Amino acid sequence: MVLARGVSIAILSHLASIKSIPHRTELVAEYLVDQSDRQISAAKPQSKKGRAMGLFTKDIKTMDDLFMHTLQDIYYAENKIIQSLPQMIDTASNPQLKQGLKSHLGETKNHVKRLEQVFKMQGQKPRSIDCPAIDGIVEEAEDVTGEVEDVDVLDAAIVAAAQAVEHYEITRYGSLIAWAKQLGRAECVSLLEQTLDEEKAADKKLTAVAESKVNPAATRSP
Ligand SMILES: [Fe+2]
Ligand SMILES: [Fe+2]
Repeated sequence: MVLARGVSIAILSHLASIKSIPHRTELVAEYLVDQSDRQISAAKPQSKKGRAMGLFTKDIKTMDDLFMHTLQDIYYAENKIIQSLPQMIDTASNPQLKQGLKSHLGETKNHVKRLEQVFKMQGQKPRSIDCPAIDGIVEEAEDVTGEVEDVDVLDAAIVAAAQAVEHYEITRYGSLIAWAKQLGRAECVSLLEQTLDEEKAADKKLTAVAESKVNPAATRSP
Protein backbone atom coordinates (compact mmCIF):
# COMPACT_ATOMS: atom_id res chain seq x y z
CA MET A 1 0.00 0.00 0.00
CA VAL A 2 1.51 3.32 -1.01
CA LEU A 3 0.10 6.38 0.68
CA ALA A 4 0.21 9.94 -0.61
CA ARG A 5 2.83 11.93 1.26
CA GLY A 6 0.26 14.23 2.97
CA VAL A 7 -1.75 11.24 4.17
CA SER A 8 1.43 9.50 5.41
CA ILE A 9 2.46 12.53 7.43
CA ALA A 10 -1.03 12.84 8.96
CA ILE A 11 -0.99 9.19 10.01
CA LEU A 12 2.54 9.48 11.38
CA SER A 13 1.64 12.58 13.41
CA HIS A 14 -1.30 10.69 14.85
CA LEU A 15 0.88 7.69 15.69
CA ALA A 16 3.46 9.90 17.36
CA SER A 17 0.71 11.24 19.61
CA ILE A 18 -0.46 7.79 20.77
CA LYS A 19 1.28 7.12 24.07
CA SER A 20 0.40 3.42 24.16
CA ILE A 21 2.62 2.54 21.19
CA PRO A 22 6.04 1.57 22.51
CA HIS A 23 9.08 3.05 20.77
CA ARG A 24 6.78 5.24 18.72
CA THR A 25 9.54 7.73 17.87
CA GLU A 26 11.71 4.96 16.42
CA LEU A 27 8.73 3.50 14.61
CA VAL A 28 7.99 6.82 12.90
CA ALA A 29 11.66 7.44 12.08
CA GLU A 30 12.13 3.95 10.66
CA TYR A 31 9.00 4.26 8.56
CA LEU A 32 10.38 7.41 7.00
CA VAL A 33 13.69 5.66 6.29
CA ASP A 34 11.84 2.70 4.80
CA GLN A 35 9.83 4.96 2.54
CA SER A 36 12.98 6.68 1.29
CA ASP A 37 14.86 3.49 0.40
CA ARG A 38 11.87 1.56 -0.82
CA GLN A 39 13.02 1.65 -4.45
CA ILE A 40 16.33 0.05 -3.53
CA SER A 41 15.11 -2.42 -0.99
CA ALA A 42 11.54 -3.48 -1.61
CA ALA A 43 10.04 -5.89 0.94
CA LYS A 44 12.83 -5.13 3.40
CA PRO A 45 12.59 -7.43 6.41
CA GLN A 46 11.09 -5.53 9.32
CA SER A 47 12.16 -7.41 12.40
CA LYS A 48 13.80 -4.67 14.46
CA LYS A 49 12.54 -3.95 17.97
CA GLY A 50 9.76 -1.40 17.88
CA ARG A 51 9.01 -2.00 14.21
CA ALA A 52 5.61 -3.47 13.48
CA MET A 53 5.93 -5.96 10.64
CA GLY A 54 3.67 -5.09 7.73
CA LEU A 55 1.95 -2.23 9.57
CA PHE A 56 2.26 0.23 6.72
CA THR A 57 3.06 -1.74 3.62
CA LYS A 58 2.68 -5.28 2.38
CA ASP A 59 4.97 -5.69 -0.58
CA ILE A 60 4.64 -9.47 -0.83
CA LYS A 61 1.22 -10.21 -2.23
CA THR A 62 1.56 -13.46 -4.15
CA MET A 63 3.58 -16.68 -4.06
CA ASP A 64 5.48 -15.27 -7.00
CA ASP A 65 6.45 -12.22 -4.89
CA LEU A 66 7.47 -14.48 -2.02
CA PHE A 67 9.62 -16.57 -4.38
CA MET A 68 11.38 -13.44 -5.69
CA HIS A 69 11.81 -12.05 -2.16
CA THR A 70 13.47 -15.27 -0.98
CA LEU A 71 15.61 -15.44 -4.12
CA GLN A 72 16.89 -11.92 -3.32
CA ASP A 73 17.47 -12.95 0.30
CA ILE A 74 19.60 -15.99 -0.59
CA TYR A 75 21.44 -13.97 -3.26
CA TYR A 76 22.48 -11.55 -0.51
CA ALA A 77 23.38 -14.47 1.78
CA GLU A 78 25.55 -16.26 -0.81
CA ASN A 79 27.48 -13.04 -1.52
CA LYS A 80 27.94 -12.45 2.20
CA ILE A 81 29.32 -16.00 2.57
CA ILE A 82 31.83 -15.35 -0.24
CA GLN A 83 33.05 -12.34 1.75
CA SER A 84 33.30 -14.16 5.07
CA LEU A 85 34.66 -17.62 4.10
CA PRO A 86 38.24 -16.48 3.35
CA GLN A 87 38.67 -15.36 6.96
CA MET A 88 37.36 -18.72 8.23
CA ILE A 89 39.79 -20.51 5.88
CA ASP A 90 42.73 -18.42 7.17
CA THR A 91 41.75 -19.04 10.79
CA ALA A 92 41.25 -22.83 10.51
CA SER A 93 44.22 -25.05 11.40
CA ASN A 94 43.14 -28.59 10.52
CA PRO A 95 44.24 -29.16 6.88
CA GLN A 96 41.14 -31.21 6.02
CA LEU A 97 38.86 -28.50 7.42
CA LYS A 98 40.81 -25.77 5.60
CA GLN A 99 40.59 -27.69 2.31
CA GLY A 100 36.88 -28.41 2.77
CA LEU A 101 36.10 -24.73 3.35
CA LYS A 102 38.25 -23.73 0.36
CA SER A 103 36.44 -26.08 -1.97
CA HIS A 104 33.06 -24.89 -0.66
CA LEU A 105 34.12 -21.29 -1.37
CA GLY A 106 34.56 -22.33 -5.02
CA GLU A 107 31.11 -23.98 -4.98
CA THR A 108 29.57 -20.89 -3.36
CA LYS A 109 30.81 -18.70 -6.23
CA ASN A 110 28.96 -21.09 -8.50
CA HIS A 111 25.82 -20.82 -6.33
CA VAL A 112 25.79 -17.08 -7.04
CA LYS A 113 26.05 -17.77 -10.79
CA ARG A 114 23.17 -20.26 -10.62
CA LEU A 115 21.02 -17.74 -8.77
CA GLU A 116 21.79 -15.19 -11.49
CA GLN A 117 20.52 -17.74 -14.03
CA VAL A 118 17.33 -18.19 -11.99
CA PHE A 119 16.80 -14.40 -11.92
CA LYS A 120 17.27 -14.37 -15.70
CA MET A 121 14.72 -17.16 -16.14
CA GLN A 122 12.22 -14.92 -14.29
CA GLY A 123 13.07 -12.02 -16.60
CA GLN A 124 14.62 -10.18 -13.62
CA LYS A 125 18.02 -8.64 -12.93
CA PRO A 126 19.91 -10.14 -9.95
CA ARG A 127 19.10 -8.12 -6.86
CA SER A 128 19.77 -8.45 -3.12
CA ILE A 129 17.68 -7.55 -0.13
CA ASP A 130 19.16 -7.38 3.34
CA CYS A 131 19.20 -10.71 5.11
CA PRO A 132 19.50 -10.05 8.87
CA ALA A 133 19.63 -13.82 9.50
CA ILE A 134 22.90 -14.42 7.63
CA ASP A 135 24.35 -11.14 8.96
CA GLY A 136 23.62 -12.42 12.48
CA ILE A 137 25.08 -15.88 11.85
CA VAL A 138 28.29 -14.39 10.42
CA GLU A 139 28.56 -11.80 13.19
CA GLU A 140 28.12 -14.42 15.88
CA ALA A 141 30.72 -16.64 14.18
CA GLU A 142 33.22 -13.77 14.23
CA ASP A 143 32.42 -12.98 17.87
CA VAL A 144 32.80 -16.58 19.06
CA THR A 145 35.90 -17.42 17.04
CA GLY A 146 37.48 -14.17 18.24
CA GLU A 147 37.07 -15.40 21.83
CA VAL A 148 38.72 -18.83 21.39
CA GLU A 149 42.37 -19.13 22.38
CA ASP A 150 43.21 -22.77 21.67
CA VAL A 151 43.66 -23.55 17.95
CA ASP A 152 41.99 -26.98 18.15
CA VAL A 153 38.98 -25.62 20.02
CA LEU A 154 38.92 -22.81 17.47
CA ASP A 155 38.54 -25.41 14.69
CA ALA A 156 35.53 -26.89 16.51
CA ALA A 157 33.99 -23.40 16.72
CA ILE A 158 34.64 -22.84 13.00
CA VAL A 159 32.88 -26.11 12.09
CA ALA A 160 29.86 -25.12 14.19
CA ALA A 161 29.73 -21.67 12.59
CA ALA A 162 30.07 -23.08 9.08
CA GLN A 163 27.30 -25.61 9.75
CA ALA A 164 24.99 -22.82 10.95
CA VAL A 165 25.57 -21.13 7.57
CA GLU A 166 24.93 -24.38 5.64
CA HIS A 167 21.72 -25.06 7.55
CA TYR A 168 20.46 -21.55 6.79
CA GLU A 169 21.14 -22.10 3.10
CA ILE A 170 19.51 -25.54 3.16
CA THR A 171 16.28 -24.18 4.60
CA ARG A 172 16.13 -21.34 2.07
CA TYR A 173 16.84 -23.56 -0.96
CA GLY A 174 14.35 -26.15 0.34
CA SER A 175 11.57 -23.54 0.38
CA LEU A 176 12.56 -22.08 -2.99
CA ILE A 177 12.50 -25.54 -4.61
CA ALA A 178 9.10 -26.41 -3.13
CA TRP A 179 7.66 -23.09 -4.33
CA ALA A 180 9.26 -23.34 -7.79
CA LYS A 181 7.69 -26.81 -8.18
CA GLN A 182 4.30 -25.44 -7.13
CA LEU A 183 4.66 -22.50 -9.53
CA GLY A 184 5.53 -24.88 -12.40
CA ARG A 185 9.11 -23.65 -12.89
CA ALA A 186 10.92 -26.89 -13.60
CA GLU A 187 14.01 -25.19 -15.05
CA CYS A 188 14.52 -23.23 -11.79
CA VAL A 189 13.95 -26.37 -9.72
CA SER A 190 16.79 -28.22 -11.40
CA LEU A 191 19.29 -25.37 -10.88
CA LEU A 192 18.28 -24.82 -7.26
CA GLU A 193 18.47 -28.56 -6.56
CA GLN A 194 22.07 -28.70 -7.77
CA THR A 195 22.97 -26.05 -5.22
CA LEU A 196 20.94 -27.68 -2.44
CA ASP A 197 22.79 -30.97 -3.03
CA GLU A 198 26.13 -29.17 -2.66
CA GLU A 199 25.00 -27.44 0.55
CA LYS A 200 23.93 -30.78 2.03
CA ALA A 201 27.20 -32.42 0.95
CA ALA A 202 29.21 -29.57 2.52
CA ASP A 203 27.26 -29.99 5.77
CA LYS A 204 27.94 -33.76 5.79
CA LYS A 205 31.67 -33.21 5.15
CA LEU A 206 31.79 -30.78 8.07
CA THR A 207 30.16 -33.36 10.34
CA ALA A 208 32.65 -36.00 9.17
CA VAL A 209 35.73 -33.84 9.75
CA ALA A 210 34.38 -32.70 13.11
CA GLU A 211 33.69 -36.22 14.37
CA SER A 212 36.85 -37.83 13.00
CA LYS A 213 39.47 -35.10 13.59
CA VAL A 214 38.41 -31.73 14.95
CA ASN A 215 36.33 -32.63 18.01
CA PRO A 216 38.72 -35.35 19.29
CA ALA A 217 41.69 -32.95 18.93
CA ALA A 218 39.77 -30.12 20.62
CA THR A 219 38.81 -32.42 23.51
CA ARG A 220 42.46 -33.47 24.01
CA SER A 221 43.52 -29.83 24.19
CA PRO A 222 44.22 -28.61 27.74
FE1 LIG B 1 25.61 -21.63 -1.09
FE1 LIG C 1 27.04 -23.30 1.55
